[in-house]
Amino acid sequence: MNQSPNDPQNSSKDKAGMQLLLQLLPFISPYRKMVFGAVIALIFTAGVSLALGQGIRILIDQGFSAADPALLNQAMLFLGVITLSLAGGTFIRFYLVSWLGERVSNDIRMAVFKHILTLHPHYFEENRSGEINARLTTDTTLLQSIIGSSISMALRNSLTFIGGLAMMLITNLKLALIVLASVPVIIVPMLMYGRRVRSLSRQSQDTVAEVGTYAGEIVQNIKVVQGFTRESEETQAFGEEVEKAFTVAKRRILQRSLLIIVAMTLVFSGLSIMLWVGAKDVIQGVITAGELSAFVFYAILVAMAVATISEVYGELQRAAGATERLMDLLSSKPQIKAPAETQSLPNGALPLRFSDVSFAYPSRPDESALDKLDFTIAAGETVAIVGPSGAGKTTVFEMLQRFYDPQQGHISIADIPITELDPQHLRRHLGVVPQQSTLFSSDVWHNIRYGNPKATDDQVYLAAQQANAHPFIEALPAGYNSYLGEQGVRLSGGQRQRITIARAMLKNPSILLLDEATSALDAESEAKVTAALQALMQGRTTLIIAHRLATVMYADRILLMDKGKIIAQGKHEELLASSDLYQRLCKLQFDHEN
Ligand SMILES: Nc1ncnc2c1ncn2[C@@H]1O[C@H](COP(=O)(O)OP(=O)(O)OP(=O)(O)O)[C@@H](O)[C@H]1O
Ligand SMILES: [Mg+2]
Repeated sequence: MNQSPNDPQNSSKDKAGMQLLLQLLPFISPYRKMVFGAVIALIFTAGVSLALGQGIRILIDQGFSAADPALLNQAMLFLGVITLSLAGGTFIRFYLVSWLGERVSNDIRMAVFKHILTLHPHYFEENRSGEINARLTTDTTLLQSIIGSSISMALRNSLTFIGGLAMMLITNLKLALIVLASVPVIIVPMLMYGRRVRSLSRQSQDTVAEVGTYAGEIVQNIKVVQGFTRESEETQAFGEEVEKAFTVAKRRILQRSLLIIVAMTLVFSGLSIMLWVGAKDVIQGVITAGELSAFVFYAILVAMAVATISEVYGELQRAAGATERLMDLLSSKPQIKAPAETQSLPNGALPLRFSDVSFAYPSRPDESALDKLDFTIAAGETVAIVGPSGAGKTTVFEMLQRFYDPQQGHISIADIPITELDPQHLRRHLGVVPQQSTLFSSDVWHNIRYGNPKATDDQVYLAAQQANAHPFIEALPAGYNSYLGEQGVRLSGGQRQRITIARAMLKNPSILLLDEATSALDAESEAKVTAALQALMQGRTTLIIAHRLATVMYADRILLMDKGKIIAQGKHEELLASSDLYQRLCKLQFDHEN
């Protein structure tokens, strides 16, 4: 399911609604056989429904009017056969079409999810997670109902509309013309309202997504909300979001209701006039009662078809909006991609180099986070990066993992520019313990094995022991099988940190990146984890971001960073002698720790 219709000139904004739906074709085409079967069943049932009209005519004219029981039985038999055919055809049609709806919407869900995973981090700074979730759930569900019923309803009713109309013309031209005259009067307002419904539907969907995002954030930060006693303000703010969504929904509902009543009024007025004219003709003996009955039956079929189409049309408009959003998402291009020809990194410890790297985050283009940053790290070296908050230390790690590309300069590992590597290959060589420990809502096994899904139980135990996590994991209610809660809420900050260290250890990377990896640990645990980390650093290149001196003392070299630049480097004593900033940082720290 990897077709992502990446139409380069995809400025779908001004395409007509129904054309937007055509973009679903690549997702439907793998199931041609099912579609074919469904269309056959659809044509069959539409044909049978039309034949029903003839059944009624025969029943009335030959059975009732002729008062002949034998003919009546025949007519009944004919009706029975038709009914059974209709039931069989409907079963097949319904099954196939619903199957298609479920299958295709799931495929789209998969394609969207798969595509999201390839997108660069900046995309997620611009698009809130709630909106992306809404596309994956609400929008795809909408498409499911469209493909699984509305399209088929529209097709079926279009067929009965055309067929019914033809039968009306054949059965009685004069009456048919009366009905035909009213058709444009019905169609025109339908198209007009349909357009409005579509734009309102997009707004409506967006506001619902906003409500979801808002609630998600509050639930995630519930302790902050309660701790700052902001419940009533949050309730009020949420109420406003909900009302906004309701206001838009109200406008949409109004348009749709208008659409429906206009269509209904026009249709039933037309029917009544026609009945009146028809009944007069029967009285005057111009047509038979059976003919009029058949005609009324066809007229009702046609009217119902029009009513259904007008209703389904609104649905289709909504689906066009959903399709547009999903296709927008699918066509957003990942900014970080593997080059056409990739190189591969050698094994073992690797040297790395930043050459005059300047970088500003896309969301703050005027403020450089890194400013002509230039340094080299030898293979197997352990280097500490220190510096005040906001200096750009974490940004260095983000660049190394190629979450962003620098605006100037380049970064290379083992003399290969990282832009010439497949990002996945690059990241497989990096072991990162991030500043904020990130755990998944699962058990300890899953969270540590995230570093290497193929690791044996013994390897997981070993990594946990090295990270000094084994003792506390054993003490959890279900040991390694303990569920850690959403984002690991059931662990302390230091425990979470040790699990992420174990995860990085299990990955056995050539380059180890530790971002304040031991900041949440007490002195004793820190000493233990540090000792384990030192063992782990053997034979790897290691970059450690640290505030605490204890952690930087054993580095081969210290880089002092400030405002995106390296302003001094050397051993601890050398920096103490040469750098005021370093002296200040150290002094504060010692005062703090005493
Ligand atoms: N995703 C982002 N979008 C925009 N600006 C960012 C982003 N992440 C960081 N910054 C900015 O870039 C600068 C460097 O941030 P960075 O996270 O690298 O600092 P740091 O040295 O790791 O600080 P700390 O010691 O507090 O972790 C800061 O001014 C920060 O506000
Ligand atoms: Mg940081």
